[in-house]
Amino acid sequence: MASHRCFCTTKLVLLHFVLLLLLQLSAAARSDGDNDGAPCGFPAIFNFGDSNSDTGGLSALLEAVPPPFGRTYFGMPAGRFSDGRLTIDFMAQSLGIRYLSAYLDSVGSNFTQGANFATAAASIRPANGSISVSGISPISLDVQTSEFEQFINRSQFVYNNIGGIYREILPKAEYFSRALYTFDIGQNDLTMGYFANMSTEQVEAYIPDLMERFTAAVQRVYRLGGRYFWVHNTAPLGCLPYAVVLRPDIAAPKDEAGCSVAYNAAARSFNVRLRETVARLRAALPDAAVTYVDVYSAKYRLVSQAKKLVRCWLAGFGDPLLVCCGYGGGEYNFDRDIRCGGRAEVNGTSVLVGKSCEDPSRSVSWDGVHFTEAANKFVFDQIVGGELSDPPVPLSQACHPGTGR
Ligand SMILES: *[C@@H]1O[C@H](CO)[C@@H](O)[C@H](O)[C@H]1NC(C)=O
Ligand SMILES: *[C@@H]1O[C@H](CO)[C@@H](O)[C@H](O)[C@H]1NC(C)=O
Ligand SMILES: *[C@@H]1O[C@H](CO)[C@@H](O)[C@H](O)[C@H]1NC(C)=O
Ligand SMILES: *[C@@H]1O[C@H](CO)[C@@H](O)[C@H](O)[C@H]1NC(C)=O
Ligand SMILES: *[C@@H]1O[C@H](CO)[C@@H](O)[C@H](O)[C@H]1NC(C)=O
Repeated sequence: MASHRCFCTTKLVLLHFVLLLLLQLSAAARSDGDNDGAPCGFPAIFNFGDSNSDTGGLSALLEAVPPPFGRTYFGMPAGRFSDGRLTIDFMAQSLGIRYLSAYLDSVGSNFTQGANFATAAASIRPANGSISVSGISPISLDVQTSEFEQFINRSQFVYNNIGGIYREILPKAEYFSRALYTFDIGQNDLTMGYFANMSTEQVEAYIPDLMERFTAAVQRVYRLGGRYFWVHNTAPLGCLPYAVVLRPDIAAPKDEAGCSVAYNAAARSFNVRLRETVARLRAALPDAAVTYVDVYSAKYRLVSQAKKLVRCWLAGFGDPLLVCCGYGGGEYNFDRDIRCGGRAEVNGTSVLVGKSCEDPSRSVSWDGVHFTEAANKFVFDQIVGGELSDPPVPLSQACHPGTGR
C-alpha cells in the first residue's frame, strides 16, 4: 500500500517535471525574436502585505516576535512569523536579492535592493481602533503605499544630498522603475469579518470594496513609477488551524483534506475577484506587467498531499493540520490563548509552554496561522516557474507586459 502510494507520487513528480519542461520549451519558443523569456534582472523588490511576508515590520513597530520563532534558519527570532524563511525570502534569494529589510526597522536595515512594507496583522481596509482591541495592524495597505511614497522621496533626497554610508544602504533612483512590486494581502480582511461573527454572505459582501482599495494601491505604486507587479492570491483559510478553531460553526463541514469547505469557498471567491481585478489593472496599465499568482493552489496541494509525500519526499511532512509550535495537544495542538512562544506562570516562574515540535521541517503548520520554512519552500518551488501564474511567466521574467495574452 505504502509503496503503491509512493509510486503514484513519483509519477506525479515526474509529470510535474515533464510539464515544467514543456512550459520552458514553449516559453523559449515564444521568446524567439522578441524579449519575452529574457530574465528581467530586477535590481530590487518592494513588498506589501501581512504576516505571510512580514520580515520584521510588526516586530519593529510593536512587540518583537518571541522565541522559538526563527529557530530553524536564523537561530533566533527574525521578525518573521515562521521557524525560518518565508516565501518572499526564497523569492528574493532566487533573484539574487538580499533578504528584505522591513521599512519600519530603523536598526541595521539595508534597503539597497528594496524594502518590505508588509506588516503582520495588516488588512487591505484601514484598521479601526487599536491593534490590541481589533487584532488588526494600523499599517494597512493604504498606509503601506503612503510609506512607499515617502520612502522614494526621502531615500532619493538622502542618497543625493547626504551620500556617504547612505549610498550603501539606499537604492539608486533608477531601481524604482525596474523593481518587482509584490503583494500578498487579504487574509486578515476575511478573518476580521469571520472573527467578528459575520456570516459568509456578510464577508463576501465586502469583497468588492477590498478590490477597489487594492486597485487604488496598485495604481498609486504605478503613478509613483512601479511597472512590474506580482500579486499573490489568498491562502485556503479553511486549512489553517486558527481559523478552524476560532469559528467551529464555519469550520464544519470539512473536505477530504480536513479543511473547512465554507472558509475555502470564501477564500476562492476573494481570489476569483482578485484575478478579475488584476486582469482589469493589466488592461488599464498597458505598459505594466501584472502577474496573478495562485498561491492558494500551491498551499492546498501541499495540505492535501502532505501525507502522501511522506514516504517519497526527502524530508516528508506529517499531519498538515497539526501545529508544530503550539500547546494543548488534540487534533490541532492549537490553543487560542496560548500560542507559539506563549508563556505561563508555573509555581511563580514564567515558563515557555507554546513550544516547538522536535523537527519543524516535517510540519506544514508552524503556529496554526503560518507555515513552516519547509512548507514555505514548497510553496516557493510551486510558484517560481510560473505554472500557477496568469500569465504563466516565471518569477525572473515577470517584467514582460502582455505575455500570455
Ligand atoms: C471601519 O469602520 C468603518 C465605518 O464603520 C467601516 O466602513 C469599515 O469597514 C471598518 N473597517 C474595518 C477594517 O472593519
Ligand atoms: C514626493 O515628492 C513629490 C515631488 O516632489 C511631491 O509631489 C509629493 O508630495 C511628495 N510626497 C511625499 C509623501 O512627500
Ligand atoms: C547593503 O546591501 C548591498 C547589496 O546587497 C551591499 O552591496 C552593501 O554593502 C550593503 N551595505 C552595507 C552597509 O552593508
Ligand atoms: C461571537 O459569538 C460567540 C458565541 O456566540 C461569542 O462568545 C463571541 O463573544 C462573539 N464574538 C464577537 C466578536 O462578537
Ligand atoms: C510546582 O510545585 C509543586 C509543589 O512544590 C510541585 O509538586 C510541582 O511539581 C511543581 N510543578 C512544576 C511544573 O514544577
